[in-house]
Amino acid sequence: MSVMFILIGLALADVPTKLAPDEERGEALYRENCWQCHGANALGAGPLSAVLPSPPLAGRIATEDFPDSVDLIQGGQGNMPAYSQVLNRHDSRRILVWLATLDPETGRRPGEEPEDEDAPEPVEDAPEPVEDAPEPVEVAPDEEVPKPVEEGNAASQEPAAPKQAP
Ligand code: HEC
Repeated sequence: MSVMFILIGLALADVPTKLAPDEERGEALYRENCWQCHGANALGAGPLSAVLPSPPLAGRIATEDFPDSVDLIQGGQGNMPAYSQVLNRHDSRRILVWLATLDPETGRRPGEEPEDEDAPEPVEDAPEPVEDAPEPVEVAPDEEVPKPVEEGNAASQEPAAPKQAP
């Protein structure tokens, strides 16, 4: 019995957000054609949105508006390119079907883990972990250690205790 639950649990954990074929195709087409402006999470923050401000699309277009939105995708509008040479109406609609499955706040599918490939880019100006901090010098107490010269007298005032390696 419990083994059964574990197996089901594993199966669910593996594919918690299995996409229907239309959604899968819609996502693939979005990732080919649309994210550059509308954003990887369809929240409107793609790299080109800096020059062509692009509205968020995740979870925002209701099914009854699909025909109008398909028209817009096919024909373009303002800075939004026309896709009639690239996508037919069915594929345009598939993108909308996929977009409708996304949470308008996070741009993710409900239950989707944040750390998957759809996750927002890591913040680029986060401080780097300090990697060139001086290594603690490991020496036997009576071994001769060459004193660092550049620190002048300050270093000689208080001999530092050998630091513990992390
Ligand atoms: C070059 C940038 C760019 C690309 C690529 C792009 N869009 Fe757009 N999109 C825009 C802009 C800008 C608007 C706003 C157009 C306006 O109203 O002036 C827009 C508007 C839309 C709208 C209307 C949203 C609303 O709230 O009115 C939909 C739907 C849409 N885009 C879908 C798509 C789809 C689907 C793709 C890919 C097939 C795509 N876009 C690719 C820039 C882009």
